[in-house]
Amino acid sequence: MRVNSESDMSAVPEILLGVNVDHIATLRQARGTDYPDPVAGALLAEQSGADSITVHLREDRRHIQDRDLPALQEAMATRMNLELAVTDEMISIAENLRPADGCFVPERREELTTEGGLEVAAQLARVTDGCVRLQEQGIRAALFIDPDPVQIDAARQAGAEVIELHTGAFADATSAASAELELDRIRQAAAHGTAIGLKVHAGHGLNTANVEAVAAIPEILELNIGHSIIAAAITCGLARAVADIKRLMQQARVPGTRRS
Ligand code: PXP
Repeated sequence: MRVNSESDMSAVPEILLGVNVDHIATLRQARGTDYPDPVAGALLAEQSGADSITVHLREDRRHIQDRDLPALQEAMATRMNLELAVTDEMISIAENLRPADGCFVPERREELTTEGGLEVAAQLARVTDGCVRLQEQGIRAALFIDPDPVQIDAARQAGAEVIELHTGAFADATSAASAELELDRIRQAAAHGTAIGLKVHAGHGLNTANVEAVAAIPEILELNIGHSIIAAAITCGLARAVADIKRLMQQARVPGTRRS
């Protein structure tokens, strides 16, 4: 088992980061251009420490497109985590693609993002069948669920290997007291999931202001983070992008220096 630092031999497993590149594609789709490219973004994320790359092929194809998936798989070096609805169409795509991980998520077309966890207990047969179909292709099966013991037990029954705990209620909490309450639910869920043999991941709504509280929970092995990273990338990169174009504009006024 790798540990967080040489001096820390307390056997707390290293925490991994999955970077969700969906919103690079959101920006591309807004203009119908071929940039920014989620594949190029994924490679940059990997070079910067991402341990896996997450993509969600939504039924309405609002960001990631079908063609992105093989391109990403061909180019990337880490594990691909494909988020998908529990539908025959999506499972068939996963079966053909065979990413390292497949994470079933609930999906409603009108939602802005994945607003809650998957209801596993109420559709156990369907989710079990989905997990079996992924596993038959060597894909690790994960379920994105609320930090709720009923859903965690159902995930175990469905045969999933991994649960990803939805941290949205914690991230959206409007007071310190409710954030603490939600964090406690996540802590208990992580301990319970681990105790019954599941690997526990977490994600949704995490950012530099709230990630530490979740990352400190020792049972959580991996966090999946997207929107805040892509948003921060725009802020970090804006100064450079403005300076680059301004320089080209000014250079174009000087005879003999134009590039095109
Ligand atoms: N994990 C899952 C299963 C998700 O559906 C999402 C959002 O697509 C995330 C993590 C990342 O959430 P965010 O974009 O808020 O960081």
